[in-house]
Amino acid sequence: MSTIEEALKKAEKRRQQELADHKLEPTENFRNNDLSNQEISEDSYALNVETTQSEIHSVGEHAHDIKAELEVERFDWNYLKEHGFITADNVSTKLAEEYRVIKRPLVVNAIGARKKDIQRSNLILITSSVPGEGKTFTSVNLALSIAAEMDKKVLLIDGDVSKPGISKVLGIKRSPGLIEFLEGEIESLSDIILQTEIEGLRVIPAGKRHQYSTELLASDKMASLAQELSDRYPDRIVIFDTPPLLATSQAEVLASMVGQVVLVIAAESTPEALVMESVQKLENCAEVVMTLLNKVQRSSLDSGYYGYGNYGYGK
Ligand SMILES: Nc1ncnc2c1ncn2[C@@H]1O[C@H](COP(=O)(O)OP(=O)(O)O)[C@@H](O)[C@H]1O
Ligand SMILES: [Mg+2]
Repeated sequence: MSTIEEALKKAEKRRQQELADHKLEPTENFRNNDLSNQEISEDSYALNVETTQSEIHSVGEHAHDIKAELEVERFDWNYLKEHGFITADNVSTKLAEEYRVIKRPLVVNAIGARKKDIQRSNLILITSSVPGEGKTFTSVNLALSIAAEMDKKVLLIDGDVSKPGISKVLGIKRSPGLIEFLEGEIESLSDIILQTEIEGLRVIPAGKRHQYSTELLASDKMASLAQELSDRYPDRIVIFDTPPLLATSQAEVLASMVGQVVLVIAAESTPEALVMESVQKLENCAEVVMTLLNKVQRSSLDSGYYGYGNYGYGK
């Protein structure tokens, strides 16, 4: 059985158990009436069962609603807005428009017309040469922008396990996450996937700090997780925020597990030699490699703040 099938099975088992727990809890009527010495006629028995079942049913459903409600991650939209992220208030701004342009080729490759030509096309990895170039900024904005479309589903994974940024930006306090899953401490994938207040957006946090966290990214388990996410959810776009390419060799291995890579380049700050080194590293990794010029000064680029840069995209 695949990991995802197991995860779904476990989630269903948990749900059933939860309903059963409520069934076993005596209702107030039963608590107050000691029935042990009473003769229960066929009729009264039937009546009791019926009443109890309908009570149970509503208690169970209600509990489930509350649980689902509690488990939804809510974002601090003011924080996001202040830090330049796409929010409902700024959908018609230049930023949002730029992200519409940026996501289009990625989405077409992932789940659209070009999907059949690219292996694991729905897995998109966001990386950069060095820290601070805007990987997390790009990952979150892309995820928000894609998930804002009615029929699109996005899973955002914080794979920058030694310097996780997604949880910080989105205000997610909960772990465990990817590390616990890769390490085997958590078996069920469904236990690390968080539903957010945006219907189409789910998040896997990085998880706990671990001495060999980046090594785990290059593990066989990570490779099979990537393959499964692609096979089982071909219409869900998976965005991985990852460590910088030149900081650890695992980032490169991770890049070979996905269909598309976006190399974020901080314009006017990352030396070209480093960018070229990264481009070379990515050459034999994913089928599609795009570069994204970030942090461009508006004065130096009339067309906008972002754009796919000189290195073009596609191989
Ligand atoms: N295009 C941008 N406009 C405004 N702020 C940005 C932009 N890109 C990145 N930043 C900011 O720069 C800092 C570093 O970006 P971040 O995404 O955390 O980098 P990385 O994840 O690559 O280390 C963050 O404070 C982020 O909000
Ligand atoms: Mg980051």
